[in-house]
Amino acid sequence: MAGAVLVTGAGGGLGRGVAERMSADGRGLALLDIDEGRLSDTAAAVASRGVTVTTHVVDICDVDALRAVVAEAFVAHDDLDGLVNVAGLGGFWQYDALDVDTWDKTYAVNVRGVFFAIQAFAAELATRGREGAVVNFSSIAARNGHELLTAYGSSKAAVLAMTNSLARALAPTVRVNAVLPGLIWTDMWRQSAGWLAEHDPALAGVAPEQIFGAMVDQLIPMKRPQTVEDVAGAVAYLLSADAANITGQSLHVDGGAVLP
Ligand SMILES: NC(=O)c1ccc[n+]([C@@H]2O[C@H](COP(=O)([O-])OP(=O)(O)OC[C@H]3O[C@@H](n4cnc5c(N)ncnc54)[C@H](O)[C@@H]3O)[C@@H](O)[C@H]2O)c1
Repeated sequence: MAGAVLVTGAGGGLGRGVAERMSADGRGLALLDIDEGRLSDTAAAVASRGVTVTTHVVDICDVDALRAVVAEAFVAHDDLDGLVNVAGLGGFWQYDALDVDTWDKTYAVNVRGVFFAIQAFAAELATRGREGAVVNFSSIAARNGHELLTAYGSSKAAVLAMTNSLARALAPTVRVNAVLPGLIWTDMWRQSAGWLAEHDPALAGVAPEQIFGAMVDQLIPMKRPQTVEDVAGAVAYLLSADAANITGQSLHVDGGAVLP
């Protein structure tokens, strides 16, 4: 199985890394993001690889629009058999400052959008009598907890429970696994480190990248940040034939931050 792959959040740091790895492996790409500009940047980055690439601008919170885009992707790629749910919303919040809109938005993107993407993907595969594989993006925040990540961490824990349930529901034709990235310097972390510099008096004036480095030192036994290539490699493995007997699993790519 090495058909085309639908990647959500393809305009982001990790989504782009996954797209680059998939195209290097010779797989066609249906790239999805809410941000048209960033999506075009990713499409341009993989354009020279000689695989078919389509772009689809959609807000995954709009379930009807998401379903339509998944159907569109299957029409554009007649060998589509992989789905990587990278799109996600992060952000630090003091638990007592969390408002209903932020909570709902976090869950609409990180949980609801992931579920309905998989539901639509599995239905399209079933119509074609084809097998496939899904990789979901969770986070170490789902396991360890963090005082500033109540909404994000709990939504990412929901992704793990969803992965287990759908692995059972969709077997034996579709495998569903998750990756739990550690700390990767993408826009999500740039914003989070900026938030800390602004809100934590002890970090006032400290450069965001320095805050991130200190976090890596504190949380990661391997004493180095993870890279988009580290995570994309794990995704490639879980989608590959080497993982044909692996489903419902959660693979940490976190330099040992969380141990079972
Ligand atoms: N960066 C890290 O350290 C880290 C660690 C653990 C998990 N993760 C997870 O990895 C994934 C990617 O994170 P990243 O670091 O690349 O972040 P990022 O902010 O660079 O990328 C996220 C992408 O998702 C897209 N997106 C957001 N809301 C969307 C929506 N409603 N519809 C469609 N697209 C939408 C954004 O436009 C963006 O391109 C996320 O699920 C995140 O939670 C990241």
